[in-house]
Amino acid sequence: MKVEAFQNCSPKDLIVLFYDDQKKALSKWKDPALADYLSMALENDFKGKFKESLMIYLPGHPIAKRVLLVGTGKAQDLTLQRLRILGAAASSAIASKQLKKVAFFVPDLKIKNCKTADIAAALSMGSQLIQVHFEEWKSKAKKREWTDFSMIVSDAKSKAGVDAAVEKARCIAAGVQFGRRIIAMSPRQLTPDALAKEALAVAKNSPMKSKIKASVWTEKELEKKKYGGILCVGQGSDNPPRFIQLEYRNAAQSKKPIVLVGKGVTFDSGGLSLKPPPAQETMKYDMAGAGSVLAAFKIATDLKLKINLVCLIPTVENMPSGKAQRPGDVVTMASGLTVEVLNTDAEGRLILADALWHASTQYKPEAIIDVATLTGACALAVGDAAAGVFSNTESLIQKLQKASEASGENVWPLPDFDEFYADLLNSEVADLRNIGKRREAGATTASLFLEHFVENKAPWAHLDIAGCGWYDAPRDMVGVRGPSGVPIRLLVEFLEQNA
Ligand code: BES
Ligand code: ZN
Ligand code: ZN
Repeated sequence: MKVEAFQNCSPKDLIVLFYDDQKKALSKWKDPALADYLSMALENDFKGKFKESLMIYLPGHPIAKRVLLVGTGKAQDLTLQRLRILGAAASSAIASKQLKKVAFFVPDLKIKNCKTADIAAALSMGSQLIQVHFEEWKSKAKKREWTDFSMIVSDAKSKAGVDAAVEKARCIAAGVQFGRRIIAMSPRQLTPDALAKEALAVAKNSPMKSKIKASVWTEKELEKKKYGGILCVGQGSDNPPRFIQLEYRNAAQSKKPIVLVGKGVTFDSGGLSLKPPPAQETMKYDMAGAGSVLAAFKIATDLKLKINLVCLIPTVENMPSGKAQRPGDVVTMASGLTVEVLNTDAEGRLILADALWHASTQYKPEAIIDVATLTGACALAVGDAAAGVFSNTESLIQKLQKASEASGENVWPLPDFDEFYADLLNSEVADLRNIGKRREAGATTASLFLEHFVENKAPWAHLDIAGCGWYDAPRDMVGVRGPSGVPIRLLVEFLEQNA
């Protein structure tokens, strides 16, 4: 039983109760005995500030051995995002206690368009995501018990939908955990071929297996089809490139698919345009776009969404070697356009170009969304707070903003101004340069480069997650330095809202 009404709730090791900054109880636990237990704490120590918490033992109480008071700050400022963060705060406050039977007493709140079920799901989401760590590769792996929170609601009426909402949150959290884990994997382990195997396993282990078609192109097929963008970046590495394609059809044949494209550079050394060592340290996460779209695909199929969805992942390792491409090389892309590769570190756009061309010519997509750790310029401009978004279709940006609001994962439009920047990609010897003539507006010139490969006026949006894909320190629902999991939940929201 995951959801209980307060009247017939079974005994717990701990119950989380929410109080606002006026010390008003938002969890409506109508228990006269409770006041005696809590009055001293509420009068003295506990202020009800956002994320504040205080554990109190209730000796002799029939239902709760302990309660954790959690402050919400001003009740009217609460949003689903703040509730996710509170779920995470409560979860970390008790993490070391390894308690078995723990529950949130779901607060009664008025948040626009939100039911009790949404509030419970938000708490559950935060409480799970914060527990994700990447310790399996330590020789003496620390054993962390997973704390599974059940839900208590004030009365039987409020139970409606809570079970299903919490179950869904569990499925999404598991998918986010899957994505963050493969992004955290060492590049020694997660080569392009290993990433392809992860994708095939997602398809094979899915409850919707029969509606999923999975295929992986190796160098052979890439050469035959002349996918020069993927090949030229991959040619320097001993770990050959792959092009991963997943198709999920669970809506009418006539319904156009949404195509997700993820940058899958399993390690970006920069190639011959070698990055300085500090910049290489985290470049295993240069496949965070791939990890994100694969996780979103997993969640969408686990949730059995009634959609047609395609997931495309060009994946390579960008290495310098005697076989590596050189600055000055002219490469013929899958689309037939030629590109003068002046900086081998601007490799993401080369592999995405082939995948975007594939997406827009092999499908008639409703929308194409690519996700990529594309430019340091985007990370400098927006930091880790948001993904930069660029699109050829204004309404698609608005749809992404709507999904962003619901998920709490931010997007911020990148400047367009192609009349200023488009010419920066002109080459004397090829159709395009792979870097702008000037460093300025680097996130925009990268987007404009990609746009050249979107055919047939397909609605397309690009999410640059160079900044938000990795957190240098724990924050909100992310409990450890490393992959943030952004924008996996945003993508899932988008898929649901546009089903
Ligand atoms: N993977 C990097 C972008 C990146 C930088 C992601 C920092 C995350 C954090 C990308 O392949 C790259 O190196 N881009 C170059 C482009 C430049 C050469 C035009 C960059 O941003 O410096
Ligand atoms: Zn690079
Ligand atoms: Zn890169």
